Amino acid sequence: MKIAVVGCGYVGLVTGVCFAEIGHEVICIDNDLSKIGLLRKGTATIYEQFLPELIQKHRRGRLSFCGSIAEGIPGCEAVFIAVGTPGTADGSPDLSAVESAASEIAKSITGSTVIVQKSTVPVKSGDWLENTIAKLRPNISFDVVSNPEFLREGTAVTDFLYADRIVLGCNSPRAAAVLRRIYEPLLSGSYGREAAAVPAPRNGQAVPRLIETSRNSAELIKYAANAFLSMKVSFINAMANLCDIAGADIDEVAAGIGSDSRIGPNFLRAGLGYGGSCFPKDAAALQALAAQRGCALPLLEEVQRINANQREQFLETIAQALGKIEGKRIAALGLAFKGGTDDIRSSPAIAIVEKLLERGARVCAFDPAAMERSRAQVQHRSLHFATDPYEAARDAHAALILTDWDEFRTLDLERLKSTLADPVMFDGRNLFSPKAMAAQGFSYYSIGRAAAIPAACRQTSPGRSLTRASAAGAEAPANAGD
Ligand code: UGA
Repeated sequence: MKIAVVGCGYVGLVTGVCFAEIGHEVICIDNDLSKIGLLRKGTATIYEQFLPELIQKHRRGRLSFCGSIAEGIPGCEAVFIAVGTPGTADGSPDLSAVESAASEIAKSITGSTVIVQKSTVPVKSGDWLENTIAKLRPNISFDVVSNPEFLREGTAVTDFLYADRIVLGCNSPRAAAVLRRIYEPLLSGSYGREAAAVPAPRNGQAVPRLIETSRNSAELIKYAANAFLSMKVSFINAMANLCDIAGADIDEVAAGIGSDSRIGPNFLRAGLGYGGSCFPKDAAALQALAAQRGCALPLLEEVQRINANQREQFLETIAQALGKIEGKRIAALGLAFKGGTDDIRSSPAIAIVEKLLERGARVCAFDPAAMERSRAQVQHRSLHFATDPYEAARDAHAALILTDWDEFRTLDLERLKSTLADPVMFDGRNLFSPKAMAAQGFSYYSIGRAAAIPAACRQTSPGRSLTRASAAGAEAPANAGD
């Protein structure tokens, strides 16, 4: 089938490239001509596993790029809208990019086109889109469908090709039939059986579940899914704080509750809270949507409050253990909002670095992928960037793990320790075992687990979340000193 995808950001580019991969003829459209220029040369404009290979594989065949909707969409059976919907001051999304794409599309469709909304938009946006296009082109036949995306940054390609579910919010059988045809290679599993297919992830589903709903329900499913996942993260973080007080261990608690099939093991990793371009924005948008319709959602307010508090709590732990933050040299390992991406939007890591700088620390930061973006966003005379984790750690009073990169799980801890001025680590992502870290000689502080202090470093003055004796025999946190 011939398909157009409007918007070459994270969602649009992955969607277009993956549609080409499953056999369609795809034109990806973006009004950023420099982006189109790069894509035409075969350069992936976002950091995403498998994407560069797939662009190379299809760009001289069934995948093309173009800078104009008017040029790109004539003759396409389906046009996917995947433009940005950033948050506004009151939380509701800014739909101006959708509006301008819609009016351009309306001018150029040639009849019987299915217009598919992939951008995350409030409930009833499909109705609005339909009315807008009908007014502009009263004599043309078209359908508007909501087909929300559930792609995670870092694993977006395999999330697309081996999805848990495909949600189609169609108000017409004709449109539903077109969408089912588009997704057929995934729904039947035929794509996954191809010898050259992108390998399925471990625990990936063989075929996605097809969920056909009304358009309004599909639009709400997207927000509800992200809100529920944010709630899971905040729940486990609230439990982690309770573990600190109660002398329990959050990893044990998460394993204990996650093995209940009604709860499930995913999204129960305690840490510095969620970030990224989606969860914070979508929680605020859902709240704004509910408020506009006179329905309060205090549950979401609490989810967001817990999330913001995680960063404060972490800084408090650092301040207590080091005595003070001012004047300390800190190695910040990780800047991206999560491992596997170069995205720093609403990153808890960036927020913590900024707060450390505000409080007078000298920070040396390293991230495997997000250095360029971080350099552009945060400039401060006390912030430096290193070329690897060990350089960041040189002569630092403590190392902070701020992003769950696999590269950090495999750090040479002996080398790290000998590089640091003091062997102290604050792990905001619980990447290491407290017992093993204490055995390595680190004073180790993590989230919802007892601080682990080697016997040689024991001091007095216990801190708020640092009170429980560690498996390594600690009774109080270390004071790393100057
Ligand atoms: C999220 C959703 O997972 C996707 O399904 C959705 O399509 C996407 O938003 C979107 O709306 O476009 P993403 O933002 O890429 O995807 O990131 P996630 O992997 O979901 O992680 C979100 C945040 O939660 C990250 O900051 C992560 O570090 C944090 N998290 C996640 C935890 O702190 N603990 C966990 O157990 C899981």
